[in-house]
Amino acid sequence: MAHRIVTLPGDGIGPEIMAPTLELLGRLGDFDFEQHTFGGASIDAHGVALTDEVLAACRGADAVLLAAVGGPKWDTTDPSKPRPEQGLLGLRKGLGLYANLRPVKPLPALYDASPLRRERIEGTDLLVVRELTGGIYFGEKTRTATSASDVCSYTTAEVERIARMAFSAARSRVSSVDKANVLETSRLWREVVGAVHAREFPHIELEHVLVDNAAMQLIASPRHFDVLLAENMFGDILSDEAAMLTGSIGMLPSASLGDQNSPTPGLFEPVHGSAPDIAGQGIANPLAMFLSAAMMLRHGLGLADEAQALEGAVETALADGLRTPDLGGGARTGEALEAVLARLSS
Ligand code: IPM
Ligand code: MG
Repeated sequence: MAHRIVTLPGDGIGPEIMAPTLELLGRLGDFDFEQHTFGGASIDAHGVALTDEVLAACRGADAVLLAAVGGPKWDTTDPSKPRPEQGLLGLRKGLGLYANLRPVKPLPALYDASPLRRERIEGTDLLVVRELTGGIYFGEKTRTATSASDVCSYTTAEVERIARMAFSAARSRVSSVDKANVLETSRLWREVVGAVHAREFPHIELEHVLVDNAAMQLIASPRHFDVLLAENMFGDILSDEAAMLTGSIGMLPSASLGDQNSPTPGLFEPVHGSAPDIAGQGIANPLAMFLSAAMMLRHGLGLADEAQALEGAVETALADGLRTPDLGGGARTGEALEAVLARLSS
């Protein structure tokens, strides 16, 4: 039976990187793609970034593939105006996708594209596990003419389930990020992560790292990290920083997963944004989107062989010299597709 995939191309370069991705997927299996309007495009059409119909369609799919949302057209600080990002947050919350996985593994072919020296990043292979449906992103917000507040709160259960996800994904070590010297939520986080470790995963090493120190160590010794576990906002910030180790944020895929025992579909998207400055020119790097599709094959649909074939084709294309402008080359989006397609069939 065909896998039912909801596709959300979104805004900016979104549609340009989604189209070649669907072409690649078409070579790898039997999929029914159902496209929906999302983000800024949905604000223009329906006044909100995520309609109830689209959320319902996502709920009924086997997996959701998302490109990118946002753009200057919808930028506003007016709290009463809709924003494209609300679609993303609504989708994460609406589908219960509490675990965000962001693997960061600089490819040897791109070592010299990194702002860090080759010796420093060689062998880096880490996974950011970011809590995605709690914390300051989803706490109560207030605003008056002269003040504003965002509440950050976590429950024991929320910390437990994301900690389990992190320990299960770890090969040797979990570095749990917090600000326990200042924040009460961080002290709860540290206690609960420690308890889950002692009870269920004593064979994995656990260290607690303060978030400012983690930011420094990511640059100073990225090879040290295996799994980096963080609450929502710390994970947001550290994953952009970690992404840059690979030379371009245009290389990083992500998976957002819910309860593994419920039929919640996963959401798969590149970490980068909609890049409005280069939208419509056909020069966007589609590789993070391709790699997000690979994560969908593996984590969302149980197609590990197909995922590996796609990842291998991307890696070989890069080793053979494929470089889009963000990687210092001149390849267009279409040429990147051709290069990966050619290595997929060989
Ligand atoms: C991300 C993005 C989003 C986030 C924004 C667009 C709301 O930065 O997925 O990392 O902060 O989670
Ligand atoms: Mg981010």
